[in-house]
Amino acid sequence: MTKQFLGFDVGTQGTKGVVIDSGSGSVVARASRSYGTITGLPPGASEQDPQMWLDAVSAVSQELLSDPAVRTDSVAGVGVSGQQHGLVVLDEEDEVIRAAKLWNDTSCARECDSISAFQGWQMPISYTATKVLWLKEHEPEHWERTRAILLPHDYVNFALTGRMSMEPGDASGTGFFDPVRRAFTDSLIEFIDPGIREMLPPLTPPGEPAGVLDERGAALLGLRPGVLVSAGAGDNMASAIGSGATEPGPVIVSLGTSGTCFEFSDQPVFDPKGWVAAFCDSTGGWLPLVTVMSMTGVTEQMRGLWPDESHESLTAKAASVPPGADGLMLVPYLGGERTPPLPEATGTLRGLTYQNLAPGHLFRAAIEGVTLNLAWGIARMADLGLPMSALRVVGGGARNPLWRQILANVTELPVQRLLEPESAALGAAIQAQWTQRGGGDSVTAIARPYVRLAGGVESPQPAASRMYAQLREEFVDSVLRSHPGGFSESTA
Ligand code: XUL
Repeated sequence: MTKQFLGFDVGTQGTKGVVIDSGSGSVVARASRSYGTITGLPPGASEQDPQMWLDAVSAVSQELLSDPAVRTDSVAGVGVSGQQHGLVVLDEEDEVIRAAKLWNDTSCARECDSISAFQGWQMPISYTATKVLWLKEHEPEHWERTRAILLPHDYVNFALTGRMSMEPGDASGTGFFDPVRRAFTDSLIEFIDPGIREMLPPLTPPGEPAGVLDERGAALLGLRPGVLVSAGAGDNMASAIGSGATEPGPVIVSLGTSGTCFEFSDQPVFDPKGWVAAFCDSTGGWLPLVTVMSMTGVTEQMRGLWPDESHESLTAKAASVPPGADGLMLVPYLGGERTPPLPEATGTLRGLTYQNLAPGHLFRAAIEGVTLNLAWGIARMADLGLPMSALRVVGGGARNPLWRQILANVTELPVQRLLEPESAALGAAIQAQWTQRGGGDSVTAIARPYVRLAGGVESPQPAASRMYAQLREEFVDSVLRSHPGGFSESTA
């Protein structure tokens, strides 16, 4: 019998939802709600109220269920994906103690340094452990009340099922999880606070449910109690399921609030520099992954300088500017950066002339700058021996054909777009279907009908690629020159 599954992706700029239908093997409904981060915080801080996520999930669910293509009685499972690394702390009444510090919060740079020194390798600023240490040192009154530590998607799962849990994919981003043993690491927990062990929930193995909707969760979604809720995943792990990266081969690039590049691996991959994260995926494998913080936030801020320009009109202007934007280069670290590890860096615009101080040039320089930076991280993946023959691109930026062409030219790899850009919400729904079938079947086989490539490929253009090869070197030089000692030999 045909069954339907809901997938939610609780992101930084909004929550997206899809419904998939096992009979037609397709996405039959979509909905989303946008939101922002808390304003007026100290520099570097990036926070959200977890209640806002629940409100958004609820609104998205009600809209999905009101779609004529959705039959509420056929809904057999729900899956939740969420922004990775965010710290949600609960007290003994299971109430949220303070706003969640998010993956792109750079206010914990000092704590990140002391953890990195303890471990002997550079921990990315985003990891939850840096926020836990920050909380203990800066808000002891909150730390004393903390009884539970959850990640954003775990918190939503808790609100839906009444049960706290984590799964290995998202848990890998806490920093105190060993992706090889798939267990929490005592040494870092001891270093930060031994009490953390008691605050972490049990781990749900891949393919097993987080629970079922309880009365409160059912009311939140507009479904009946008892509907299965899968383990869920960090957004990149969910996106891997929704874009075919559950077997070796596909390399996914996500152009969203963060920029990421990842691929499935059947063994753990460890980068001594700490640029490539050694994450588990959420299907029993691993997901080596590079993340940059400078991506659509930068291009959108640039676009915002000309309120009358749409994304399309500005893209058309940028497309008429030659590769390299007539000498204009943006080092795009408007909110600091994580790859390379420069959380306190700022951006630089270089090479301004009377000719290139114009909207099309500036927009092109923004797209090129974030892409050159991401390509630096992608090159690190290749250095570690990860195979890379073509890119599949997802996320908001994937809709922009100019950006896809620039990505192909900068990386010298063909770029294909997936039909469903919301691959994380799709992956969460597919995970629910996989879990509902017992988790024993191949998740790749279950995902296959839903994971479709849009027609057309952007192939690297030799002349532009030569130009960008030169620019990649200039970009790296310029960052290294402006941050002498900014990251040590072992991380540069
Ligand atoms: C991954 C990361 C980001 C967030 C964005 O390590 O920090 O991709 O998951 O939501």
